[in-house]
Amino acid sequence: MAVEPCEQFPELSVWHLGTECCRPLDCQGWKKLAQPNLVPFESVDALATAAAETFVARANEAIESRGRFTVALSGGSTPLRMYAKLLDAEMDWGKVDVFWSDERCVPPSHPESNQGAADRALLEHVLPAREFGMFSQGSPDVCAVEYERVLRSVVSDPPVLDLVLLGMGADGHVASLFPGIPELHEEKRSVVATQSPAGIAERVSFTFPMILAARSVLLLVAGADKAKAFDAGLQGTGLPVSRILHSSAQVYAAF
Ligand code: 6PG
Repeated sequence: MAVEPCEQFPELSVWHLGTECCRPLDCQGWKKLAQPNLVPFESVDALATAAAETFVARANEAIESRGRFTVALSGGSTPLRMYAKLLDAEMDWGKVDVFWSDERCVPPSHPESNQGAADRALLEHVLPAREFGMFSQGSPDVCAVEYERVLRSVVSDPPVLDLVLLGMGADGHVASLFPGIPELHEEKRSVVATQSPAGIAERVSFTFPMILAARSVLLLVAGADKAKAFDAGLQGTGLPVSRILHSSAQVYAAF
């Protein structure tokens, strides 16, 4: 049962106030937190369509004002739904530089590769100007250091992307920033090696400073299995996703 909206701030919907399972902050408390730019959708398909429209809008804005669009894609099935909607997008892929916000330490040919999944679903068809995979030869930390060097030389120093796309796991992770790992507190580096508690352990991931420096962040959350972590993230309980929900990121959700 959702908590009743707060009379003083009617705009604080159930999304902000949480549900009975999570003790909501008082309204003033929520007012102090950055309000999530939160858009709920009836279905994953509607979410993917809206996300593709936002992607194209950001791309055309960037190309018009800066001559190119720099974007970091994410792994996961939810972002993949959006990639399919971009196949016929009205945009100049010849002016797009593609990066990744996280990667498993496997080559693109591996079925678990985020770059491989995006290549097969989209990039092999639309042919962006350049794509910069996160995984190269060497240890995860060597890959992270090298990727940060590439970002600082190809994009800007410090690196500021036009758009960072993120998904969220059922445990509240974003990119490959998992609950309880020390890299959640990294405040200087832009890219780090991390360990995943499930699946392919060795990862390379953007840090929060890198994500939150972007001109635009779009978080896509879909699936009933994510509602609990999402609510907990809205309560500001320290889950990785909480840092994104209480920033200026756009959040599209369908449960
Ligand atoms: C990864 C992803 C990860 C993903 C979420 C959501 O490498 O695993 O980058 O952060 O975005 O786990 O994945 P789903 O959309 O498949 O739930």
